Amino acid sequence: MFTHSPKQQRSASSPDTFEVLDEASASLRDEIDELIEIHGENRNALIPVLQEIRSRHAFVNSFAMQYVADRLGVSAAEVYGVISFYSFLKESNYGKFAISLCRTISCDMADKARIAKCLQEKLGVKFGETTPDGMFSLNWTNCIGMCDQGPALLVNEQVFTHVTPKKIKEILDGCRKTYQENEKGVS
Ligand code: FES
Repeated sequence: MFTHSPKQQRSASSPDTFEVLDEASASLRDEIDELIEIHGENRNALIPVLQEIRSRHAFVNSFAMQYVADRLGVSAAEVYGVISFYSFLKESNYGKFAISLCRTISCDMADKARIAKCLQEKLGVKFGETTPDGMFSLNWTNCIGMCDQGPALLVNEQVFTHVTPKKIKEILDGCRKTYQENEKGVS
């Protein structure tokens, strides 16, 4: 529910016309404009921009999909396709730290199965699940472009390569430390 009157804003689907946008969408549009300033106004910015929206808002809504498509000159179908392909961009009940392990062939050959087993043991959840404290979610992803450095995974938008069980412990400890520091910072 919005407490202020909607303002006249440029629409996502019709960038050259003006129509009423609610404030949430207008705010999201401004955020996307800022992200495109940072990452560039071209299709290479598509994943970084979507990742950032996803990490800030828990999911990429239809307005954001259309607006990103308009700004980057790609079709909304392509944006939707990218979101569908990369599980870390999808709407989901993700934890504060979304761990996405690459399951594509090079990482598979680099023994991603051992890393998958270790992650499940250390987190006590299966793939597609979130820890009961809401801290970690565990998901598969398709190739993230680090094929020569597998096994590779993402924690939110951060890439980790040559992952080993020892490194997993460091990664999880690092996440918990970051969370505690952030909590202290806001209290
Ligand atoms: S196959 Fe895993 S990063 Fe490409």
